[in-house]
Amino acid sequence: NIVNQLAQKVEGLTLDGLAQKYPTAHPEINPLDLYRAHLSDVLSKISGVETSIIYPVVMWTQSLDKGDFVVAVPALRIKGKKADVLAQEWAEKFPEDDPLFDKPVLSGHFMSFFVKGEPLTESIIPLVRKAGTDFGKNRFNGLRDPKDLSSGKKRIIVEFSSPNVAKPFHAGHLRSTIIGSFIANLYEANGWDVVRMNYLGDWGKQYGLLALSYERNGNEEELNKNPIDHLFKLYVQINAEMSAEKEAIEEQKKEGKDVSALEANSLDEQARQYFRRMTDRDEAVLAQWQRFRDLSIARYKGKWASFANGVGLFLHHFNFHLPHIHPQTYSRLNIQFDEFSGESQVSEESMSKVADEMKEKNISREDKGAVLVDFTQLLPGKEGKRLGTTVLRKRDGTALYLTRDVCELLGRYEKYNFDHMIYVVASQQDLHLKQLFQIIELLGYKDIAKKCQHINFGLVLGMSTRKGTVKFLDDILKDCADHMHETMKKNEEKYAQVENPDATADTLGISSVMVQDMSGKRINNYTFNMEAMTSFEGDTGPYLQYAHARLCSIKRRANLTDEDLDSANLSLLKEDHAVNIVRMLSQWPDVLQNTLKTLEPTTVLTYLFKMTHVISSSYDHLQVVGSERELMKSRMALYDAARSTLANGMRILGLTPLERM
Ligand code: ARG
Repeated sequence: NIVNQLAQKVEGLTLDGLAQKYPTAHPEINPLDLYRAHLSDVLSKISGVETSIIYPVVMWTQSLDKGDFVVAVPALRIKGKKADVLAQEWAEKFPEDDPLFDKPVLSGHFMSFFVKGEPLTESIIPLVRKAGTDFGKNRFNGLRDPKDLSSGKKRIIVEFSSPNVAKPFHAGHLRSTIIGSFIANLYEANGWDVVRMNYLGDWGKQYGLLALSYERNGNEEELNKNPIDHLFKLYVQINAEMSAEKEAIEEQKKEGKDVSALEANSLDEQARQYFRRMTDRDEAVLAQWQRFRDLSIARYKGKWASFANGVGLFLHHFNFHLPHIHPQTYSRLNIQFDEFSGESQVSEESMSKVADEMKEKNISREDKGAVLVDFTQLLPGKEGKRLGTTVLRKRDGTALYLTRDVCELLGRYEKYNFDHMIYVVASQQDLHLKQLFQIIELLGYKDIAKKCQHINFGLVLGMSTRKGTVKFLDDILKDCADHMHETMKKNEEKYAQVENPDATADTLGISSVMVQDMSGKRINNYTFNMEAMTSFEGDTGPYLQYAHARLCSIKRRANLTDEDLDSANLSLLKEDHAVNIVRMLSQWPDVLQNTLKTLEPTTVLTYLFKMTHVISSSYDHLQVVGSERELMKSRMALYDAARSTLANGMRILGLTPLERM
């Protein structure tokens, strides 16, 4: 046992004893837990402060030059002496010959601790090799009882992407897709049972609009021949007509004319009425809907079978063209949904049940035939004001977005009995989700409301185009891929060795988009910048891929076997550059666990870039190919551990690590 060997270096330390004293520590997964525990033991002996107080304030550092851990003495809350005086006293008493740490470095009341290279190197590299793709994952974090492996996993629903069918898939959906998939991967790596859910906006006036278009301009023969293309054409056509009509009405309004007759007869109004017939379960209308669906199924069955999921199947065909996302886009992005739910799946029955409940509990009230929730009356003070008043059901009886969400949420709880649920939705919908969670609470389901969380994000600027020229997501990805393909071709020799240049360029393009998206905090807006994100300079997707591919290339050239690497003499890795790489790698389990608190992709990304910088600055100092054989083996073992940790991090982010490019 690798970690046992590490424990044996410390007199009196056993893994069992450590587990008793530090129940949250899991050194077999995260060796740094052993370091923290040992440090707490030593500091406790010196200071007399209890280990349970020290352990939680042993913090990680921003960069390697600041040490591996730092303790702010004031955090220990000792009365009497000044913190910097205490720090000095304790530093003096810190044993010279500690097996794991050098003597602390002081800066005011901060004590910085640097690990000794050799013991860390000899535990981390073998651990990374043994754990492989599991290195860093923590199966304890997601347990119902973190001390009991048989207690079962907690369950989380991550709802993300959720585009609107028959409307464009816009940048907001792209961000939701990227961030949501990352959050799902993160929880999975931390031992949760994850349900990935796509809640399609698949019900509403836009369907009425489509059907209307078919009534006006549809062609039976064309529909049979190629339903998807034909329906798409119809959709585009009616949207154009509707925009023109709206403009005309606006003109007349400006001229002071009465437009009520025009409005009552408008395409928009007709679509609304058509949709009303759908919600009323008008048979003829639903049969039409069914027909579009069946035709699409027949046409695409083989191809999309894996996405089939009840009504969902049809919707995905719309998805294919109408919201400008190809179902395969999800697999290009390494995403697989467990469930495609959608607004159309919320039954009228469940909605009227909830409506009754809300009336009974005096949450909603009627106003001229519409049903409202007035938070300003329900909640005192600021909170009520912030949430305002909202409509649940329109005067014509159609239930709205919010009502569907209320029912859907309760339905999901019934079906999955989740411990937590995350909605990954743009910050434009902050109010909507606050209202949703508040209604759930007002209904008396406080416990369920507490389990729900909105993860929001800012806008992508420079991507929304003037009307009529919606950018297709697949086109954007393709543009980036083409751009990367051109760049790859510039190095003819390398290019010739890439097995599948198209796929590689595609992956690079996707990496560019994703890394740019994940570079800042979620809430920040950012500007879509093709030049910047496809560059190899700076912290970009292509740079990250290059860093990985370079490690792969060293491995190919070194041409050593697994046994060679397993038997490498790791005590040869004495250089600071080597130890620094190991120190970076050792942080990965901490990073992965800490990211659960931030839920920010940038927490992982920043770590990966720091790691690649430490690696790239080592190349001149730690030659592999050309070095003496034993040295070559040990250095290769080091770089291979780095490669595998980098790849693990990239996969959490949803990137596909490339071996050649
Ligand atoms: N389809 C919605 C939109 O595009 C997003 C859905 C968010 N999820 C939810 N449960 N409301 O705006």
